[in-house]
Amino acid sequence: RTDPLVLGIETSCDETGIGIVRGTTLLANVIASSMDEHARYGGVVPEVAARAHLEEMSPAITAALDEAGIRLDEIDAVAVTSGPGLAGALMVGVGAAKALAIALDKPIYAVNHLVGHVGADVLATGQDGASEPLQYPTIALLVSGGHTSLLLVRDLTGDVELLGETIDDAAGEAFDKVARVLGLPYPGGPHIDRLAAQGNPKAIRFPRGLTLPKDMAKHRYDFSFSGLKTAVARWVEKAQDAGEEVPVADVAASFREAVVDVLLGKAIAACADHGVPRLLLGGGVVANARVRELAAERCAAAGIELRIPPLSLCTDNGAMIAALGAQLIMAGNEPSSLDFGADSTLPV
Ligand code: KG4
Ligand code: ZN
Repeated sequence: RTDPLVLGIETSCDETGIGIVRGTTLLANVIASSMDEHARYGGVVPEVAARAHLEEMSPAITAALDEAGIRLDEIDAVAVTSGPGLAGALMVGVGAAKALAIALDKPIYAVNHLVGHVGADVLATGQDGASEPLQYPTIALLVSGGHTSLLLVRDLTGDVELLGETIDDAAGEAFDKVARVLGLPYPGGPHIDRLAAQGNPKAIRFPRGLTLPKDMAKHRYDFSFSGLKTAVARWVEKAQDAGEEVPVADVAASFREAVVDVLLGKAIAACADHGVPRLLLGGGVVANARVRELAAERCAAAGIELRIPPLSLCTDNGAMIAALGAQLIMAGNEPSSLDFGADSTLPV
């Protein structure tokens, strides 16, 4: 049988992502972001995101079909993110996907956004330096402005276990909040990253959330970044109150080190505990230079294969959703019945 031609729709946050794949081959990956509209609010505004998805949906689908060089009626199936994410934003994608499936009389696959991030790797084989498809089981560390999760993936199409996640802020959110404290524009992650390159990561010892023995007992694979954010804000305030000039590069570097140290520390521990010599990274924070550097360093030291798909497949996109849909079809999974909803807290 031929590889399925799948159109994927992703609208869990501020990116309207439409992807088209044929089996494991990427044909189109169109992303329309409403980030500009959220910037002045200093964070993603759910209703603004939902309205933007509604406006961008049809143009993005048309652009993706153009990019793939196919007609809409050629697709074999539709895949869509049904959660987790912003409820109103998800509903726009789910509604559009159902409309396509009904009009074309094609099967629909409702998929989990986090598992979609893992699915991105099948499209990256050959692009990320890895010539072989990702083997399972694998540990996946997914870090963005909306989520910070550690998954144990035994089988992409049927056996994914959530090991842990943030109990407060997502790591990207912490970057954005600390950037605000330092007077940097939103989203602040890239700005902190650039500033940090000129600072000393050992200048200030900021707290590493949920790493003390008493916390590790219950939260071995969970993350917490809100205490760190508060610690940075207090430190900066104190310096300002004392009339000192804030060493912003050192603060940025020390903060970045605290976040990245915890992210990789817990991910590597998950690999070791489960005897899994593979780590896949996903989410927008993967753009961070220190994340990439420390991941490479620690994985090499521990004999762990590190997979980092190209950034266009790490940030939220429709291609990863289409890729997961194609994997589900090729593994013989039944399509979803048309009565599924949008679930902002959908478990993996
Ligand atoms: O996956 P993504 O594009 O989408 C959402 O979460 O919606 O991730 C965006 C997040 C933002 O919080 C942004 O500040 C952060 O990823 N980010 C970074 C870097 N680039 C983006 N954080 C740290 N360092 C970076 N270089
Ligand atoms: Zn995501």
